[in-house]
Amino acid sequence: MQTSDFLVKHKFSADIDFDVLLAEFDRQMTAGLEGRPSSLAMIPSYVSLGKSVPANTPIIVLDAGGTNLRVAVIHFNEAGEAKFDCKEKFAMPGTTGETLAAAEFYAKFADFLEPVAKRSPSVGFCFSYPTEITPTLDGRLIRWTKQVAAPEVVGQMIGAGIADALEKKTGIRLTVKILNDTVATLLAGAGAGMSRGYSSYCGFILGTGTNIAYVESNAKITKVAGLDRGAKMVINCETGNFDGAPQSDFDREMDARTSDPGKGLFEKMISGAYIGGVGLALLKTAARDGIFSAPAAEALLAFKALSTKDFDDFVANPFLRFSALSDIPFTDDDRRAVMELGEPVFVRAANLTAANIAAAVLKSGAGTDKLHPVCVTVDGSTYYKTRTAFFKSRVEEALRKILYARGVYFEIISVEDAPMIGSAVAGLIS
Ligand code: BGC
Repeated sequence: MQTSDFLVKHKFSADIDFDVLLAEFDRQMTAGLEGRPSSLAMIPSYVSLGKSVPANTPIIVLDAGGTNLRVAVIHFNEAGEAKFDCKEKFAMPGTTGETLAAAEFYAKFADFLEPVAKRSPSVGFCFSYPTEITPTLDGRLIRWTKQVAAPEVVGQMIGAGIADALEKKTGIRLTVKILNDTVATLLAGAGAGMSRGYSSYCGFILGTGTNIAYVESNAKITKVAGLDRGAKMVINCETGNFDGAPQSDFDREMDARTSDPGKGLFEKMISGAYIGGVGLALLKTAARDGIFSAPAAEALLAFKALSTKDFDDFVANPFLRFSALSDIPFTDDDRRAVMELGEPVFVRAANLTAANIAAAVLKSGAGTDKLHPVCVTVDGSTYYKTRTAFFKSRVEEALRKILYARGVYFEIISVEDAPMIGSAVAGLIS
């Protein structure tokens, strides 16, 4: 069987009908803002732009990403530059094989905070999971993503839980302010891009998980009563859970093996925690369908897990030695097949990434004047480090095609440590 026929047989296509997908994004974004059924939670962040950040005021920052938990103390100097007074990195609780009870989870955060607890009365907590935010910036965890194992924490107020645990341990009470990493990234970009005259801002993450935030008029957030309708706030879309992209057999097979089947379907097609799993499901199916030589097929079928990095590295260079796949006795025809099958996984991810970013830029309604483009701040290792299929430039190319055709102008920027810097901003202005 030809590799192209194999992909069709298993309903895998890297080509995306952008018009259809963008219309579906728009429909579900609107439904989410209005409180109607939608796979997009469209969570109000209660963070808005335009407030000035006090200089020389330290703030504690926590950043719970996919695999790492970072603790820092940050202040902004008179010129508005972020300065790290200290920065530590730990493993994210619940990602190292253990299942944590809620009390254990909060106790770990109390341990992280104890050494810096006297440096500021507030913590800006970048919490990168679907979380309903209150007007005072506490947050109730809706569900875990990225396979974190701490099930009791779901439904609880994260900020209060951590503040209580720290107080119990040290007698110190801190105010913990929760925001999503996309919201923080957007804020960091807004700080960095202040002088450029951007018409609006988005914060996009493609790392272990994926998601985007943009600025919306409160008048459109009709699911929340009592908002100042003339103002705007940042919305966390939770696009990792978007259910409008067509799934292949490989996506279904990989999803069935996760701890949250049926959830986060979009993220499971494009983000670092999952692309390797989709790739392995694809390679194993190809081995069963007779695409590879018998020895290579046998070795592939015995394979247990494949990380996104190992998959990416090998598809980009199938002669790679010392990688997860290099012990498999591939012939050159097999290697050709690995490229022909693997590249479309990354091409599809790049196209879906572009659709995700374009959807938010379009929803902002901004960027129609070339002088004032929309600033998209992008963070995340999968976006910047993926090698196969010219990943990053492919996303940019698709975005130019989609948005310029619609008369919408944008720029992509990156800000080092954006999630932490944005969390410091949020902690200080709110
Ligand atoms: C989470 C989002 C987060 C994204 C990027 C997703 O799994 O649900 O809240 O923004 O990952 O880190």
